[in-house]
Amino acid sequence: MNQDSKKAAVAEAAIGYVSEGIIGVGTGSTVNHFIEALSSVKARIDGAVSSSEASTERLKALGIPVLDLNQAGPLDIYVDGADEANEHLHLIKGGGGALTREKIIAAASEKFVCIVDDTKLVDVLGAFPLPVEVIPMARSYVARQLTALGGRPVWREDFVTDNGNLILDVHNFQIVDPPSLESRINDIVGVVAVGIFARRPADVLLIAGDEGVRKMGP
Ligand code: A5P
Repeated sequence: MNQDSKKAAVAEAAIGYVSEGIIGVGTGSTVNHFIEALSSVKARIDGAVSSSEASTERLKALGIPVLDLNQAGPLDIYVDGADEANEHLHLIKGGGGALTREKIIAAASEKFVCIVDDTKLVDVLGAFPLPVEVIPMARSYVARQLTALGGRPVWREDFVTDNGNLILDVHNFQIVDPPSLESRINDIVGVVAVGIFARRPADVLLIAGDEGVRKMGP
């Protein structure tokens, strides 16, 4: 099975977690498959809260109403992909640059169902460069602080987030203690969000492989 077929399979499996109400929807190529699958059950949901302008456009194109999180209130379920995941359901996210809104929706959701193909599963997070969203005027300052932590930050040039901020992709981290590094980076002034999702990890990790989709978590 190729990687795109795995993404489609795991997205389809996540539909099993969708009952009714308002669904939190993430961003990325795996979630794009989920959005398509969601259109088949749109009659039984009230709409979606979206983590990016890109996902919002796709949802609206399929006739799924998109609501503001402030109006929606707490969500039962949030479905999103990841760039890396470990056995503790800690994640690296933000390859698509939507990490801040993704983190907000994950925090506001009762259950975070993360959907990945088996290439994303790792023993230690960090081979995928860690995205950090920063306020533009703090870019150089934050980069120096990340270097002091042992990383090699690279400015994602020609990219502006949906919030009008910049992304530093940090290479060279071997993230053996994800919650601790998440807190340390969060504490740097000028950081909006860091792409480590460990203090609020996924609740369920669905992993697509050649043998089908398996589940980690309760
Ligand atoms: C978007 O900002 C990311 O957090 C995505 O969830 C992550 O990059 C996974 O994307 P793919 O499904 O395209 O691999």
